[in-house]
Amino acid sequence: MEQYILALDQGTTSSRAILFDRRGQIASVGQYDFPQIYPQAGWVEHDPADIWGSESRAAAEALRAVKPGQVLGIGVTNQRETTLLWDKKTGEPVYNAIVWQCRRTAEMCEELKKRGLTERIQATTGLLLDAYFSATKICWILDNVPGARDRAERGELLFGTVESYLIWKLTGSHVTDYSNASRTMLFDIHNLRWDEELCDILHIPMSALPRPVSNSEIYGTVKPDIPGFEKVAGVPVCGAAGDQQAALFGQGCFAPGQAKNTYGTGCFTLINVGTDPVRSRAGLVTSVAWQVKGKTCYALEGSVFNGGSTIQWLRDELGIISSAPEINTLAATVPSSGGVVVVPAFTGLGAPYWDMYARGAILGLTRGTGRAHIARAVLECIAYQVTDLMLAMRQDAGCDIACLRVDGGASVSDLLMQLQADGLRIPVDRPAMVETTAFGAAALAGLACGMWSSLEELETLRRSDRVFLPQRVQSECDEEYRLWKRAVARAADWIE
Ligand code: G3P
Repeated sequence: MEQYILALDQGTTSSRAILFDRRGQIASVGQYDFPQIYPQAGWVEHDPADIWGSESRAAAEALRAVKPGQVLGIGVTNQRETTLLWDKKTGEPVYNAIVWQCRRTAEMCEELKKRGLTERIQATTGLLLDAYFSATKICWILDNVPGARDRAERGELLFGTVESYLIWKLTGSHVTDYSNASRTMLFDIHNLRWDEELCDILHIPMSALPRPVSNSEIYGTVKPDIPGFEKVAGVPVCGAAGDQQAALFGQGCFAPGQAKNTYGTGCFTLINVGTDPVRSRAGLVTSVAWQVKGKTCYALEGSVFNGGSTIQWLRDELGIISSAPEINTLAATVPSSGGVVVVPAFTGLGAPYWDMYARGAILGLTRGTGRAHIARAVLECIAYQVTDLMLAMRQDAGCDIACLRVDGGASVSDLLMQLQADGLRIPVDRPAMVETTAFGAAALAGLACGMWSSLEELETLRRSDRVFLPQRVQSECDEEYRLWKRAVARAADWIE
């Protein structure tokens, strides 16, 4: 009887469940989208019932052909930072989940900056003081939901990011893994514990916080009779990681200097920096990548807000293409963008610029500019932004990066991958099995429950689909990158 690991991958727009076999191959997939809630401009929420409902249905679908006993362990990976508070006894959430993208606490963060907390927060948590992370989202719920603060102070409420909530629903254990904990802005990444003083400053009762745990150990077993999970009752939940760290693990980036980029709506680049956290001087953040078998690895991370979403903009707003893949055929009809540069600063610029006031721009237009040039410039701007992140990483990590492993929706574009390899001057390696996030969670669980025995064994499971090598002359690529930097400077600080 074949045995499997079930990975639950709870993302920002959909919940997925994937069953992996011993060779790391996908045996089945379940996937359900769920609604996004936008109560005000800049606010984003999810209904916890939708998160749980869609994830349970996805699991039931993935488990359809499986018999009880065939699943050895369960791994969980998730949209990070998204914040939930629920009643310890009833499980009833006190408010919707506040999603990582939500900017409602931006002002609160400005206040904290004025109080001089930026340095204190970066030194302990590895993060920049920003509304992106969970801490101020917790404060908002405690301050704005009637009765929430009193209940939290009486020890009646529990906080968790999404993996914590799912594990609690499945097993009753209130835990969070180190990678997710390190995205809350309350976690001391050096000592792997909650920072009491920061909790105090933010008035967050520590009784609400989950117990931080390693990324690969048994957190509990699935309770009986949970709809969707009946076939895995009694199975250990034994691996968890935030989705970007899970992808780094799933890509087999186990050694310092190994890096991956996910080309999703935004782009997330992470590099393994080894067993000591590296402090960024170049606008990146430091997080725990994972702790496995007692060894902690740290990662530097850079994220840009608009990657694949720029292709959607081209399709939905400009109508230059009618489907996302069409960008490749159109862009390939011209040998270059003809000097056109797109800066996709629709919502400001993320790492390494951190300019909330920048706005998008198309520069370098001439009378001869056509749709194809703009399409190509869109692919180029995605690659340039990742190059920006990689250069920042090189500077911070102080080591050469030999290769970039890639995944995410837009990584299917051969042209984009070639542009990336040309710009970075290193090989860009796309795996054959692109579900690296879910596989990362499965691998963490599989190590804990004995499906796989070591990182070396996991490494042997990864196969490349294609490795893109730099082809174009370096001086040309450097010249184009300089143009990109000039264009970014023009788009900077646009809003007054
Ligand atoms: O930090 C946010 C990130 O974890 C969200 O990832 O893939 O759900 O958009 P995704």
